[in-house]
Amino acid sequence: MSKSFEISAPDAQSPIGIFDSGVGGLTVYRALHNRLPNERFVYLGDTARVPYGTKSLATVERYAIENSQFLASRGIKLLVVACNTASALALPKIRAQIGIDVVGVIGPGARKAVEVTRRAANPRIAVIATEATVASNAYADSIMRAAKKTEVMQTACPLFVPLAEENWTHEPETRSIAEKYLNKIIEFAPNALVLGCTHYPILRDVIQQTVGKGVTLIDSGEATAEEVEKLLQKKGLFNAETLSYSHERSLCDDLDHFFVTDAADRFARVAERFLGAQPSKLEAVEVFGVDKLEKQKRF
Ligand code: DGL
Repeated sequence: MSKSFEISAPDAQSPIGIFDSGVGGLTVYRALHNRLPNERFVYLGDTARVPYGTKSLATVERYAIENSQFLASRGIKLLVVACNTASALALPKIRAQIGIDVVGVIGPGARKAVEVTRRAANPRIAVIATEATVASNAYADSIMRAAKKTEVMQTACPLFVPLAEENWTHEPETRSIAEKYLNKIIEFAPNALVLGCTHYPILRDVIQQTVGKGVTLIDSGEATAEEVEKLLQKKGLFNAETLSYSHERSLCDDLDHFFVTDAADRFARVAERFLGAQPSKLEAVEVFGVDKLEKQKRF
């Protein structure tokens, strides 16, 4: 039996699984890695089927389930859905199918935004995300559940995704696109702005300059890392032991394992732009029908 399909109960030493539609989820990986240096991570970027942000509910659910099954087959102790679109559309389906705890990025991002605006007389929160995330209303619903009186405004900013991948973080073109997208948000004058897409933290500076210093930016990835730490502690799955390694732990080192469904070379190049390092362990895989493959190997 191949090691990848051995079924054993996860423990504190087991890795944390993360998936995204592609490379953007590396911003969430970075937040988790920085907050939880004793943990190991298995990351799956579904680069063959990116983008998710323009796809239908049924398609995103199917992709998300296949990705989750692939990661579950690697013996992870917790699954982080780094992709905002998959978190917005597919979390209930994933939770119903995967026998481990699943954390999405929407709830943590929304709760953090509510926390930082709690003292405002008339709290206003803006959310920028993909078209599918905005259409799902997942952030707005989650914010309203936590604080009914909050006013919420949402805007899709699809061009931010390729701009981040090109590393156009300070170009004048990026600034004028940001001004166009964020125009209405500036008029809305929010207390906080949620970066509700994996790629947007890469453009944090230009977004902050455009909306002004008075608006608190919420990085959903960082908010998620905080909640993951608390959940691991609550479940007794927090790895308190320093990992044994000969060098100082760093992003993309060989304790973390990266998988992509296509174009590994491009993933490595963009990873270097996002994280300043290329993954030491990077493999191309197929995730379609992993559940069937797993069953065949077991029986
Ligand atoms: N990862 C996606 C998200 O956070 C952005 C890219 C895509 O559309 O797939 O929503």
